[in-house]
Amino acid sequence: MKTLGSLQKTLNLYDPNIANIFLPWACRHPKYLRSFFRLRRSYLTSEKIRKGHLKEGVKIPPFLILSVTSKCNLKCNGCYASAAGTVTHQQTTAKPTLKLHQWMKIIKEASEIGVFGFVVAGGEPFLYPHLIDIFTTFKHRFFIVITNGTLLKKEDYKTLKKLGNIAIIVSIEGNDLLTDNRRGTGVFEKAMNTLQQLNTVGVINGVSVTITRTNYDYWTKEENIDHLIEQGIRVGIFIEHIPTTAEKQDHDLMLTNEERNMFRKQMLNYRETKSIYIVHSPGDEEFFGGCISAGRGFAHITPAGDLTPCPVSSIATHNLTTSTLLEGFASPLFKRIRESEHLLETEGMPCALFAHPKEVEELAQSVGAYKTDMNLK
Ligand SMILES: C[S@@+](CC[C@H](N)C(=O)[O-])C[C@H]1O[C@@H](n2cnc3c(N)ncnc32)[C@H](O)[C@@H]1O
Ligand code: SF4
Repeated sequence: MKTLGSLQKTLNLYDPNIANIFLPWACRHPKYLRSFFRLRRSYLTSEKIRKGHLKEGVKIPPFLILSVTSKCNLKCNGCYASAAGTVTHQQTTAKPTLKLHQWMKIIKEASEIGVFGFVVAGGEPFLYPHLIDIFTTFKHRFFIVITNGTLLKKEDYKTLKKLGNIAIIVSIEGNDLLTDNRRGTGVFEKAMNTLQQLNTVGVINGVSVTITRTNYDYWTKEENIDHLIEQGIRVGIFIEHIPTTAEKQDHDLMLTNEERNMFRKQMLNYRETKSIYIVHSPGDEEFFGGCISAGRGFAHITPAGDLTPCPVSSIATHNLTTSTLLEGFASPLFKRIRESEHLLETEGMPCALFAHPKEVEELAQSVGAYKTDMNLK
């Protein structure tokens, strides 16, 4: 009882919703309580380290997004990672991808300077052959894997459960029709089977949904959120579609202002009334005073080790094979994005940097940034 109380106190520091949703879950899966305590200790330590760096003038984010692979087995419509050149369907990439020992070095440095959690994306993370090695090596860090859910093997479930420091988030778009239309035939069924397996074994899981004009209506209907909850899903990440190409059909997927306002209202309503932890981008940026990229809340590393402000922006000044993370976070590129109130404003768009293409281009030129596209040398 005492231990649960102390855990609740820590989770409340971050967000009371987390305690309300995950403590009942942890009680049903007591093995996770030990992991929670281990992670709670490292959360508090890493927070202290970050505060120390801030006093020295360097902002370290609590989270890093790692695109561990440029490979993907799907070709989803409007995928930002394909447009940014983080994902490529070529056999080889022009830029060399990081080796396991290089990822290990980066994650070690990140942990030492106060990064607490890692969002693992890509490409498709389960195509990266050393994923489990990373989770095993960094037991004191929390990993959130965003996956298309089509490639998990039987043995993966048991390992993930045993490690206890990983949440698996499976991307869907809505029902079978909506999902398969964007992601390919048969993907919905595979993704839902994966979620079911994760629930049966007892691995924290959730869904990630790109909100477009095609599926926002589906997700504003309460019965569809209730259906997720009934299936044991406890995290819902809703990211509004960011057009990343010049194509009209890509831009047509973006919500109108009216739809965005309505959707935001419903997300806030779900957050108050449903037993599922809701993350909504860009809506949640209002809690943080604007966009949280460039180290304010997170930053992104490409499969080649380039440090970019976020997964959608494909510019960098530092590659982590030759620079440290600390140097990257202190760079003029990151500092100037963080310090520009104007650049951090979404201005009714799904992404702040996307809302200011001219200013971002000028900034990139003035700090000598290069393109991180894996297809370019
Ligand atoms: C790029 S994927 C990488 C991980 C994995 N391959 C997957 O699909 O889950 C990460 C998330 O970004 C979402 N996404 C892709 N393109 C997007 C876009 N243009 N705007 C917003 N979200 C997008 C995907 O639906 C997925 O949930
Ligand atoms: S599975 Fe993920 S990375 Fe692959 S194309 Fe789809 S959204 Fe992009």
